[in-house]
Amino acid sequence: MSQFALTARKFSSSTPAKTQCLVVPVFSDSKAPKGFNGLGEAISDLIGKALELGDFTGKTGTTAWLTGDGPVQRIVLVGAGKSSDFAASGHRQMLSAAANALLKGKAKDALVHLADLKIDGETLPRVLEWFSRELAMTAYHYDETLSEKKPKPSLKKVTVDIGDELTVARARLHLEIGQSIANGANLARELVNLPGNICTPRYLSSQARKLARRYTTIKATVLDEKKMKSLGMGSLLSVGHGSDEPSQLIIMEYKGAGAKTRPYALVGKGITFDTGGISLKPGPKMDEMKFDMGGAGSVFGTLQAIADMELPINVVGVVAAAENMPSGRATKPGDVVTSMSGQTIEVLNTDAEGRLVLCDALTYVGRYNPAEVVDIATLTGAIIVSLGNVASGVFANDDELAATLVQAGQQCHDRAWQLPIWSDYDKQLESKFADIANIGSGPGAGSITAACFLARFTKDYRWAHLDVAGTAFRSAPKGATGRPVPLLVEYLRKRAGK
Ligand code: BES
Ligand code: MN
Ligand code: ZN
Repeated sequence: MSQFALTARKFSSSTPAKTQCLVVPVFSDSKAPKGFNGLGEAISDLIGKALELGDFTGKTGTTAWLTGDGPVQRIVLVGAGKSSDFAASGHRQMLSAAANALLKGKAKDALVHLADLKIDGETLPRVLEWFSRELAMTAYHYDETLSEKKPKPSLKKVTVDIGDELTVARARLHLEIGQSIANGANLARELVNLPGNICTPRYLSSQARKLARRYTTIKATVLDEKKMKSLGMGSLLSVGHGSDEPSQLIIMEYKGAGAKTRPYALVGKGITFDTGGISLKPGPKMDEMKFDMGGAGSVFGTLQAIADMELPINVVGVVAAAENMPSGRATKPGDVVTSMSGQTIEVLNTDAEGRLVLCDALTYVGRYNPAEVVDIATLTGAIIVSLGNVASGVFANDDELAATLVQAGQQCHDRAWQLPIWSDYDKQLESKFADIANIGSGPGAGSITAACFLARFTKDYRWAHLDVAGTAFRSAPKGATGRPVPLLVEYLRKRAGK
């Protein structure tokens, strides 16, 4: 949870800065000390002299520490780059560098001087959201299973000085939004980082109940294997057959609008460990398959964030949780299972298990009469070949929804890109022994055929699928990223008109 008190105030040159650390952005193309006069003569002189020496150029993302004067103990100069690049990209690098510097330093409080940048009222909300988000996300460290815990940062309080572009109340609101998004992303990171022997399907259920205890707006329900069997979820259940850990279907209902308002649905792949099953994966890097519940993690994180923000919409989060293991009871290649939709599936490869749990969860979510459904899954290695770890893959049966997700990703810098799900690809899923095969017949377009598989189960509503195998975690340095929580929150804010 957020360790910092974050606030904003209106900058005035008549109330001199008093802080353990003054953060001053410097453009690479503006002449100092002109812009810093408001900070008082002593501070302006210090900055002016430092800049005259030429060691600090204002290049984006660079920082320099100066010893302060009087009530200002230290100064960190942060490079804001070319003023013309600031709104599009410079502010992110600059604020990430500022967050990094503040968290590494010893100052307990900081004053971030944005007032002289003359940021316009359109850009400033994004700048504030990015700053508080980066601060909280940079402060996250995984140490749950380390015997020695990481020391907490010294930083306790951050104040942002703004000009007249925005009211102080609005500025504080955007700082809070950034923090809610980061806390949600950090919750996702923690769940995704936890090892498979701790973070089991039942552990995920306990997390849902925990969220429901914390937020009166969230209700949690868990369907056990017996209940899923009675609902006909033969596909989902086939994935956990080889495991001693029971599969779980976790449902979290967030109510921010009237009971009759159609909900938005988020459906997460929650494979708490993916060995591949009988189609066993090779040994190297198999440990990374504890990250195979990244989609589920993002559902938890997004629900927490929107409950924090009290978004005025209804959202139902569904997590299909199972462990994919080989054993005497495991599903075998060639087995045919019957999904809740009635469609039979030939399991040609037990390592294509994500789609098998998702299809039943996607059918189940239909009963909520959702306005839109977005599923999130670390579904295919192929998406890493296509988009690397820069963008998540977007697939949809509705181009407006796809465009909204791509735009949301652009706006919060958690990017995604659309790929097609044309019928030419769907053909590859034909099976001789069932209605559909769980893998494509050819070697190509693995992410697309996976999405085509899901599309067969989502015909009744507006639906999009996010393949986050490349973005939910990194191999070096190894760990969860919290993506695509920022994208999902941005999308839901759009739908809520906030
Ligand atoms: N969880 C994996 C996908 C994955 C791979 C995620 C690498 C993150 C990093 C998924 O269950 C899987 O094994 N997919 C197979 C599908 C194939 C058998 C059609 C794949 O991508 O190889
Ligand atoms: Mn797999
Ligand atoms: Zn998987």
